[in-house]
Amino acid sequence: MGKTTVTLIKADVGGYPGHSGMHPDLVEEAKKHMRKGVEGGLIKDYRVMACGDDLQLLMSHERGVDNCDVHGVAWRAFEAGTKVAKGLKLYGAGQDLLKDAFSGNIKGMGPGVAEMEFEERKAEPVVAFMMDKTEPGAFNLPMYKIFADPFNTAGLVIDSSCSMGYRFEVWDIMEHKRVFLDTPEESYALLALIGAKSRYVIKRIFPKAGHKIPKDEPVAVVSTEKLYQIAGEYVGKDDPVALVRAQAGLPALGEVLEPFAFPHLVSGWMRGSHNGPLMPVAFSQARCTRFDGPPRVIAAGFQMNNGMLVGPADMFDDPAYDLARQKAQEIADYMRRHGPFEPHRLSAEEMEYTTLPHVLRKLEDRFEKVP
Ligand code: F6R
Ligand code: MG
Ligand code: MG
Repeated sequence: MGKTTVTLIKADVGGYPGHSGMHPDLVEEAKKHMRKGVEGGLIKDYRVMACGDDLQLLMSHERGVDNCDVHGVAWRAFEAGTKVAKGLKLYGAGQDLLKDAFSGNIKGMGPGVAEMEFEERKAEPVVAFMMDKTEPGAFNLPMYKIFADPFNTAGLVIDSSCSMGYRFEVWDIMEHKRVFLDTPEESYALLALIGAKSRYVIKRIFPKAGHKIPKDEPVAVVSTEKLYQIAGEYVGKDDPVALVRAQAGLPALGEVLEPFAFPHLVSGWMRGSHNGPLMPVAFSQARCTRFDGPPRVIAAGFQMNNGMLVGPADMFDDPAYDLARQKAQEIADYMRRHGPFEPHRLSAEEMEYTTLPHVLRKLEDRFEKVP
């Protein structure tokens, strides 16, 4: 068997109702196109899922990353989903399909992409994380904790097969540059960057030399597409996704899930303009209600079986995450009481990429010099 590629591509092609959730007809339509992809030999297996108003297409295949045929299967599913959404007059039908014609790679066309190619180990657990109402930087804190924080991941200290640490690929999404940083030795420099989560985002994580897994094979990947950069205007937050491999020299599944017990503050929520807690929820609770949120994350667990997906297991459908949900609601309540004030509302710098500048422009002429 060749290498396996797991590709997760997501887009908002219509919300039901408003920007809150997913209509079942869109999921059914997408499944039809995924089945065609399997019949045509383009992909091996698939799962269609949803988080909030985002349609999530998880595919497995042997074609590597950035494959035109695989991306084409997803693009056609989104186009067909848009037609169904238009037929039902769903909200924002076709919202994230920012370009008309598919040109061979779905990147830069609106949808978010996380994919990685690897040699399947004897047993290969993979978790697909999907977030709604937030931005790619929302993954910075949990990814750091999983792969670099010994207070989260005991294996970094007590398991010699992962104690050499990991290499982080960080993107400056404003300047379109990237840098590789090794942990633990460069942890402080890494944190100096990724703490500024609206600019520096973790794209991939690799094992370091000496690990059982080759050092050029990613063990985690995050979608980093910025919709406003493609569209040139505000079109909602990016609602990122990520794939993480686990166990046997990598952080254990429980270490991969552990950071989400802390509902950290992320930017997004209402109109992509507010800070709020990231709430881990079961698939059935992935509908953004209160103030279009609060931002949510679901986790779908899989075992890979020679390129086939065994799963999903709904990882946050568990009372162990009840306290995190409770805490998230308390934080949501506290933040909401600030109304339009910072730091509930994003900083002026981040608001540049929202609908606020239109409002401010109207006031420009009325400003006068203070005497
Ligand atoms: C956030 C989001 C929603 C919308 C809000 C206003 O990412 O999608 O919070 O921004 O519902 O939407 P419109 O302007 O479409 O009425
Ligand atoms: Mg939407
Ligand atoms: Mg969304």
